[in-house]
Amino acid sequence: MVIALDVYGTLVDTAGIAGELRRMFGDLAQSAAELWRAKQLEYTFRRGLMRRYEDFDTCTRQALTYVQRSLGVSMDEAAERALLEAYLRLPAFEDVPEGLRQLQRSGARLVALTNGTERSVRSLLQNAGIGEHIGTVLSAERVRSFKPDPAVYGLLRDCSGGAAEGSWLVSANPFDVIGAKACGIRTAWLRRDPRRVFDPWELSADLVVPDLRSLSEELPRSAGV
Ligand code: LAC
Repeated sequence: MVIALDVYGTLVDTAGIAGELRRMFGDLAQSAAELWRAKQLEYTFRRGLMRRYEDFDTCTRQALTYVQRSLGVSMDEAAERALLEAYLRLPAFEDVPEGLRQLQRSGARLVALTNGTERSVRSLLQNAGIGEHIGTVLSAERVRSFKPDPAVYGLLRDCSGGAAEGSWLVSANPFDVIGAKACGIRTAWLRRDPRRVFDPWELSADLVVPDLRSLSEELPRSAGV
């Protein structure tokens, strides 16, 4: 059984950059962190649709430029570089190390399935102290597109020997859950924030849990891992 984990927002907390942003954005740090993440995702979606691929690091950098312009804050190159480096040190959510350990103990093979570049995601996981649990990083850069493009979920099928139906995708991002589900992959939605609304489409998650620790308890029961 292969369990594919989304990375940003699922294993590591993108809001964890707010502390670093405070120096530049003051009281607007929280809004800046949220806008940065929203624009970063929007750029990946648009680039996917337009077939104008630039990697996730580029989307992240361009989104940061957008945030500066939008909030009227301008950073010099060194400050921008420092922030982008800090983005490689986003913290893991508190439940993640133990959750990954428990999933591994149940015999599952854990891989990352991410829009991030393999290089950045490797550093990110290492810096967050969870790299040892994730054997393979399946990056969307392999197909020069982004989730929820089915081509990206196809990477999971390839890595699980053609049986995507035997795999799970675990993500806190509803768009990702829906994307995987549309490709016949079983899905678990980590509803980290109880106020988070799931998109009211015709596709929904097979399992909804608040965090990775609960998932490691629920999943073996529902999947026979
Ligand atoms: C990822 C982003 C989309 O890790 O959360 O793929």
